[in-house]
Amino acid sequence: MAKKINKIAVLTSGGDAPGMNAAIRAVVRSCSYYNLECVGVYRGYQGLIEGDFEDLTARSVRNIINKGGTFLKSSRSEEFKTEEGRAKAHKKLTDAGVDALVVIGGDGTFTGGLYFNKEFDFPIVGIPATIDNDINGTDYTLGYDTALNTVVEAIDKIRDTASSHNRLFLIEVMGRDAGDIALNSGIGAGAEEILLPEEDQGIQRMMDSLEKSKKSGKTSSIIVVAEGEKSGKNIFQLAEFISQSHKEYDIRVSVLGHIQRGGSPSCFDRVLASKLGVGAVEALTDGKTNIMVGVHHQKVVHVPLETALKEDREFDQELRRVANITSV
Ligand code: F6P
Repeated sequence: MAKKINKIAVLTSGGDAPGMNAAIRAVVRSCSYYNLECVGVYRGYQGLIEGDFEDLTARSVRNIINKGGTFLKSSRSEEFKTEEGRAKAHKKLTDAGVDALVVIGGDGTFTGGLYFNKEFDFPIVGIPATIDNDINGTDYTLGYDTALNTVVEAIDKIRDTASSHNRLFLIEVMGRDAGDIALNSGIGAGAEEILLPEEDQGIQRMMDSLEKSKKSGKTSSIIVVAEGEKSGKNIFQLAEFISQSHKEYDIRVSVLGHIQRGGSPSCFDRVLASKLGVGAVEALTDGKTNIMVGVHHQKVVHVPLETALKEDREFDQELRRVANITSV
């Protein structure tokens, strides 16, 4: 029989994402609601190793639902990748009387959690938080919706300049391995072409589509490029390549960078964070471990951490088709 859970620790790890604070708040308040103790761990797994803990009450998390980033701070800990590091972390947790851990983050965070659970049989539940949306088994990760809105707002502004000056803009968005931000923001902001990590369609396709745009009477163009796209050229090299064969284009490059990760979370992300935070605590008190709480068709679902980490996420071909049709 699973050990009764009296005290839960919560941490955020990996790249920050809007909605992390709202998720911490939901975890802390669920603990309070169910009369459990809650401990915040600062600086992710590194803080776990160093015992950088603070007791949290329902009032500790006031006024943070609307804040970007994570007040617990985040890190990518090299030491936690070692057995010794994880053993130190386990000792700090047991010394503090913690029975279970909620980890909020992306694939690196879940991988660390999985190792930790395997080695110490310590109850772990993950909450998916990354602007990339690249976690298997959940329709959405925390921060993705906010990031999309930030990106679309930025591209809308760039469009004003593109159309005023008849320019071609190449805009780089985040997404090392996943094209969710690029594909969705590209459709939402009306891009002529979208380059994604999931497909290597070659540079020729981009050139053809620019040619088509010109013939169809377009005077300005926007190409959204995911940072992990597979042409083998970075965005500046792509711009150079186009300008060599098409001197007539007035080309500019814009790399959106980390503005995509910050900012106040959207209402969607705040509600998602609240659902998942409550779901995580309830899963632990129900004796569940080694799972991620995700969302599918609006409902909270439990997904084994191993499944969440699988890399065979299906690429949305239908959305690609929509992008092709609406950009003619
Ligand atoms: O994991 C989210 C992400 O935004 C990726 O899309 C991007 O490649 C990476 O983080 C950048 O991370 P860092 O903040 O370490 O530069």
